[in-house]
Amino acid sequence: MTLIDGRDISQQIFAEIATQVKAMAQAGKTTPHLVAVLVGHDGASETYVAAKMRACERCGIRGTTLRFEDSVTEDQLVGAIQSLNNDPDVDGFIVQLPLPAHINEQRVIQAIDFRKDVDGFHPMNVGRMAIGLPCFVTATPQGILTLLDRYNIATDGRHCVVVGRSNIVGKPVAALLMQKSQPGNCTVTVCHSATPDLGRFTRTADILITAVGQPRLITADMVKPGAAIFDVGITRQPDPTSPGGWKLCGDVDFDNVAPLCSFITPVPGGVGPMSVASLMQNTLKAHNKQL
Ligand code: GUN
Repeated sequence: MTLIDGRDISQQIFAEIATQVKAMAQAGKTTPHLVAVLVGHDGASETYVAAKMRACERCGIRGTTLRFEDSVTEDQLVGAIQSLNNDPDVDGFIVQLPLPAHINEQRVIQAIDFRKDVDGFHPMNVGRMAIGLPCFVTATPQGILTLLDRYNIATDGRHCVVVGRSNIVGKPVAALLMQKSQPGNCTVTVCHSATPDLGRFTRTADILITAVGQPRLITADMVKPGAAIFDVGITRQPDPTSPGGWKLCGDVDFDNVAPLCSFITPVPGGVGPMSVASLMQNTLKAHNKQL
């Protein structure tokens, strides 16, 4: 069994990007600039945006956090997005979700110029991804593809089972892995909360991707020996032995499942760090005007 080290691969990617950015700076060219729009003071969002800004520093990418109070109106936010769309000094930007309840997230996402939408949330990028055109791919699915590639995990003709159908993980990763490309060319099955007898499907998976946020949903009897498993779940569970009183749990019963697998991602330290790495790759792509 090989433990997939997302932290290590994400550090490699930061170093690779840093080399490219340094070369741009030395050649007297402009360097990439990412803006993160952060509304309110949600603890998780603050943590995620801080991690994205730290990653920018590692890569030599300029990172700016643009803050708004919870009281910001939808029109004010859309106005700020239009300014970012028109600002030639900004290569790409993200609007950290969730937004306060009085703001329509879809209207905000659709206000973003898709050529600067480094989160890949705009319907233009989602549609382009679905038909295999150049696009910004959402961060977590792209991170899984990078891990498949860097660990040389064969996908061609293999059965991939995705558990979860969210717009940011389940749907895009299924669409990407069914495409005739590498990594890809899988037979893909998508399961979700209405799937009866989940194990009947997961037991047939050569590659199993779970993104539902239900700790220990996937037990050893639900896994085919030799499968490669990507666990996207991150749920805080009470844990009196941890300093903070909680720990992060994946969707997979790791201790019992890991010995059966060919490859498995731990939680934390598996898929999670790759999402930030994918955002940095997308920012570089936006700077290089690859769309
Ligand atoms: N909230 C949770 N994950 C994400 C993400 O990848 N991007 C943004 N913008 N918000 C999020």
